[in-house]
Amino acid sequence: MLKLAAGLIRMLFHDCFVEGCDASVLLDGNDTEKTAPINSNLIGYDVVDDAKQAVEAICPGVVSCSDILAYAARDSTVKLNGTGWTVQGRRRDGLFSCADAAENELPLPTFNVSQLIESFARRGLSKTQMVILSGSHTVGVGHCDKFIERLYNFSATHFTDPSINASYAQQLKKDCPQAIFNTTLEIFMDTITLGEFDANYYKVLSEHKGLFTSDQSLFDDRSTR
Ligand code: HEM
Repeated sequence: MLKLAAGLIRMLFHDCFVEGCDASVLLDGNDTEKTAPINSNLIGYDVVDDAKQAVEAICPGVVSCSDILAYAARDSTVKLNGTGWTVQGRRRDGLFSCADAAENELPLPTFNVSQLIESFARRGLSKTQMVILSGSHTVGVGHCDKFIERLYNFSATHFTDPSINASYAQQLKKDCPQAIFNTTLEIFMDTITLGEFDANYYKVLSEHKGLFTSDQSLFDDRSTR
């Protein structure tokens, strides 16, 4: 349940950030958002498909896939003891989906604060909104390949990213060995409470245990702390 819930929350973000919240991330076909490498680890497609099928059987043509995804992500946070929010329905599904758009527009875990601010600003989102939304990393996992560059051969002066808590870096090196470029090993982003949609992500950052540069820099940079 935790895995799927985290997957659906991430899926909503990846949908909304590209062409708006129009379920374009769900569309099959050549070169759709779904096929973009940045979306390769998204999970939860069948949950939305199953829900759509069930709703269509009762009232055909009324509830869009984008509404279903928005409700599913909200309900996922509630299942994980988060507070949830009111979702307004009546979104319309998009018919256009482009892999390059997902690849070019979604932020990367290697981004620094300026790149993150710019990326969210392009969607009309403020710094505060960005920091709040990033709190979703209180649930779910990151794969070793997404942050391995912070552990080994980081820079000319530091073998390991000095912004990572030293003992945590040691642990991460055990979990993500240098010899293997591992795309399947998963590390929980919030190591304090694994399955709770709470505020501990921010505590993790204050302890310098953020998994990605993009996470840790939100705490380390004065403008977003
Ligand atoms: C601020 C810029 C962000 C960056 C650079 C970023 C990047 C990432 C990366 C690299 C992963 C791990 C993917 C993997 O290894 O498979 C991840 C996971 C996740 N992200 Fe983000 N993300 C950002 C913002 C957000 C936002 C705004 C949300 C939700 C509103 C979100 C929700 C999630 C969730 C729930 C997961 C865990 C997914 C799972 O366990 O399957 N992220 N993110």
